[in-house]
Amino acid sequence: MAKILEPGQAMDEALTLLGSGDVIAVPTETVYGLAGDATNGEAVARIFEVKGRPRFNPMIAHVSDMAMAERLVHFDEVSRALAEAFWPGALTLVLRLKDDATVHPLTTAGLHTLAVRMPRGFSSELIAALGRPLAAPSANSSGLITGTSAAAVEADLGPKIKLIVDGGATPIGVESTIVKVDGGQIYLLRPGGVAAEDIEKVTGLPLLRETGGKIEAPGMLASHYAPRAAVRLGAVEVSANEALLGFGPTRALGAEKAAAFLNLSERADLREAAANLFSYMRELDASGASGIAVEPVPTQGLGEAINDRLSRAAAPRHL
Ligand code: TXA
Ligand code: MG
Repeated sequence: MAKILEPGQAMDEALTLLGSGDVIAVPTETVYGLAGDATNGEAVARIFEVKGRPRFNPMIAHVSDMAMAERLVHFDEVSRALAEAFWPGALTLVLRLKDDATVHPLTTAGLHTLAVRMPRGFSSELIAALGRPLAAPSANSSGLITGTSAAAVEADLGPKIKLIVDGGATPIGVESTIVKVDGGQIYLLRPGGVAAEDIEKVTGLPLLRETGGKIEAPGMLASHYAPRAAVRLGAVEVSANEALLGFGPTRALGAEKAAAFLNLSERADLREAAANLFSYMRELDASGASGIAVEPVPTQGLGEAINDRLSRAAAPRHL
C-alpha cells in the first residue's frame, strides 16, 4: 500500500523516491499525475508499467520554470505567447525537441516533439527542488477513470506505488488542454482545462480541430475513462437500473426512480461540472447500477473537454 502524505510533509520523501528512479502520485491543478524523473529511462519505463500504458504513447514533461522548458524545446512566437498567458496552468504545448534535451527517449516515445506543461502548486515546487522535468501522465490505470483525489489514486494504483501526495480534490478536475502550433496555425490535440475560446482570444487565431490524422495526440484512444457501468449520453429519460449523472436545474424524465443520482452542477456551471466529473463517475459506478445515464452538457467553454471525456467513457471498449 502507498503511504499518503500531505504536501507539507512529503517533499523529502518525494525527492528521495524520484532521485532513485521511483514513481509517485502527485496532485496538480488539473488531475493527479503519476510522476517520475523524465530524464531517467528506468523511471519512465516504470510509469508505463504501473499504468499498464501502451509503449507508443508519449508523456508530458512537467517543468517548474521557463528556463527549464527552454532547455528542452524550441519555442515559436505563438507558443511563447501561450506559455506567457497560461503558465503555470492547464495548458500543454507540443513543441520541437532540442537535440541536446535531456529527457529520455521513452518520454517522447521516440517523437521529435515534446509535450511540455508548467503546473501549479506542490508539483511545481517538487520539480524545482529536483531540478529536472517530471514525466507525469494522469494517475490512473490505462483506459480507466482519471484520478482526481488521493483516495481515487489509492484505490486504483495504491499497491503499485510507494507514495501518494494528498493535495485534496484537484480544482480543475479534467486534464490539460493540449495544443500544437504548426505552420503558424494552432491545432487542438485535446480539449481540457483551458477553454478553446480563451486560447483564441490570446492568439487571435482560430483553434483548428482538424489535424488530417497528422499530429493527433497518440493517447486519444476512442475508449478511455471507462467505468464498469455502460455510459449513455444525452439522456432525456432514465431507464430501470440506471444511475443518473445530471447537469443543471432541470431533470431527465423518471429521475426519481434512478438507482443513484448526482448533479455535476445544479447551477449549470461548467467549471464546477468539470471539477466533479471524474469523482462523480466513480461514485455512480460504485452504486452498482448497470448503466449511467448522463444528461446533456453544453459544448462551449469547459463543456468541450467534459463532452470529450464523456464520449470516450461511452465508447465501445476494446480492452
Ligand atoms: O493535466 C494533464 O495534462 C495531466 C497532468 C498530470 O499534468 N497529464 C496527462 O497526461 O493528462 P496523459 O499522459 O494522461 O496525457 C497526455 C497526452 C496523451 O494523449 C499523449 O498522447 C499526448 O498527451 N502527447 C504527449 N506527447 C505528445 C507529443 N509529442 N505529440 C502529441 N501528443 C502528445
Ligand atoms: Mg490520462
